[in-house]
Amino acid sequence: MSKIKTKFKFNNTNLLKAKKILEKYPKNFSSSAVLPLLHLAQEQLDGWLDKSSVEYISNYLNVPLIKVYEVATFYHMFNLKKVGKKCINVCTTTPCWLVGSDSILKRFEKKLNIKTDCITKDGSISLHEIECLGACINGPVIKINNDYHENIKLDDVDKIVKNLKK
Ligand code: FES
Repeated sequence: MSKIKTKFKFNNTNLLKAKKILEKYPKNFSSSAVLPLLHLAQEQLDGWLDKSSVEYISNYLNVPLIKVYEVATFYHMFNLKKVGKKCINVCTTTPCWLVGSDSILKRFEKKLNIKTDCITKDGSISLHEIECLGACINGPVIKINNDYHENIKLDDVDKIVKNLKK
């Protein structure tokens, strides 16, 4: 497989982490490390994966680029567009929708003065819709970066936005 020239490279710390991750897999199954390596790349790029980073993982694992994209586009925890430093994801799948996630999303839009899938002008906060976060019993559920918040009420949105803007 021919290698693609990429701008993205793991920094030294992440190169070591990537090596450790690969050690967990049998040599002929190193392609299975695509998921943790995408997470590592996303962490290095402050929450999103650009084209170059996906190509880099493809090269790094010697896996066809389409295979890496299949994973990166399937799981909603990977962002293929730039996100804010604080990335708010509102679950709008049916169980959360039934208990008001649409209103929660609208309240965030109003409070942040942005539309869904947009970033505030200062780049600090972005807002997104997301599929089920696996905590349906406690909906509406939102995720801010890696933290889950459950049973969200409209008033909570105001407090959350206020805290994020501090
Ligand atoms: S539907 Fe929202 S967490 Fe499952």
